[in-house]
Amino acid sequence: MAELAINGGTPVRPQGYPAWPVWDETEIEAVTSVVRSGEWGGYPEPGVNAAAFEERFSAYQGAAHGVLMVNGTITMEVALKALDIGWGDEVIIPALTFAATAYAPMAAGALPVIVDVEPRTWTIDPDAVEAAITDRTKAVMPVHLGHHMADMDRIMDIANRHGLAVVEDCAHAPGQRWKGTGAGCIGSFGSFSHQSSKILTSGEGGSLLTNDEALARRAHSIVDCGRPKDAEEQEVTFGANYRLGELHAALLLPQLERFEAQRVEREENARYLEEIATSVPGVHVMRADERITRWSFYNYILRIDPDEFGAENEPVCAALEAEGIPGEVQYPPMSRYDLFQPSRSRLPVAVEFADRLDPAKMSFPVAEAAGLRESIYFMENTFRAGRQGIEDVVEALAKIHKHADELRV
Ligand SMILES: Cc1ncc(COP(=O)(O)O)c(C=O)c1O
Repeated sequence: MAELAINGGTPVRPQGYPAWPVWDETEIEAVTSVVRSGEWGGYPEPGVNAAAFEERFSAYQGAAHGVLMVNGTITMEVALKALDIGWGDEVIIPALTFAATAYAPMAAGALPVIVDVEPRTWTIDPDAVEAAITDRTKAVMPVHLGHHMADMDRIMDIANRHGLAVVEDCAHAPGQRWKGTGAGCIGSFGSFSHQSSKILTSGEGGSLLTNDEALARRAHSIVDCGRPKDAEEQEVTFGANYRLGELHAALLLPQLERFEAQRVEREENARYLEEIATSVPGVHVMRADERITRWSFYNYILRIDPDEFGAENEPVCAALEAEGIPGEVQYPPMSRYDLFQPSRSRLPVAVEFADRLDPAKMSFPVAEAAGLRESIYFMENTFRAGRQGIEDVVEALAKIHKHADELRV
């Protein structure tokens, strides 16, 4: 008789995990008051709620300026444009991330140069960054993946030595701090996503943070159809309408109020997971870097050893889901991404550098092992169901490990 729920056995956790997003009358009231005001759009930019959120979120994260816009993909495109990066330029990105990190440089007209990640954190490998620099390189875009942060000491050192801008992709990392400095406040820009599943959400939305007033002004201008934002109204940029509407912006204010308590709860439960997960053979904890001084994550990532475990990440995730556990394979390596089809961008540089953009010619051993075999991303709500929620994760992993032969039939 089958034991695993995927084969008809009894699931470990039939009741599931808490729903996301968390909301109550406060969010209803916030949206209702925007409806009543009649000021639904994002113009004049920033709207009242957008401006309030920009101020509060940048203060929480520790940046001087925030710029709210439609999503966390456009944020990165806007950041590159504000930095004057475009046609003919190269931007170095990691091989393990969401497609948006590659899309943004392409949309700005630049060539994304993809490099492997490091085995300890699956974030961009600083040695690979340094090796990929050419005289066209203008920026590096580290991604703070899962519960990790990229090695910002080394990235900033490399960037400073080579005169590169740094745009941090912090879609997973609101709340994180590196040696006391907030994620997104270390490089030239930090990019955040407020998309539905993210831990600071309004359904859709994105924020750029920066400590540079001129860059903030340019980003505000680019998202507002290029309108000048300086006192003399002289500085017109090449922009379009990427403003976030006030109905969305209003949701972010109460969500930010809830954020810190949720972060603490997730942190406590993730620490408990780290304590007990290694009791399952083939499950490895990838501890966060000690330079992370405030820990916050959208996904927590466990590494399985498929040979020891008896199955690769994809079948294990399908089995976890059937057991009622929200574990997912999030990202394939960039060399295998369905969405990442450089030839479709029609970049002149893509023709010139066809070899460097051909997925068939890319090789990223660490990202490939992680994405195709080893990584399991646990969604944020796994960490909002108390110790029992964590014990159920471990019980499900142990059960799948024990009956992995059932996944092979
Ligand atoms: C690492 C990463 N970067 C960028 C994005 C893009 O954010 P958005 O969906 O808001 O465009 C996401 C999430 O979707 C992401 O996970």
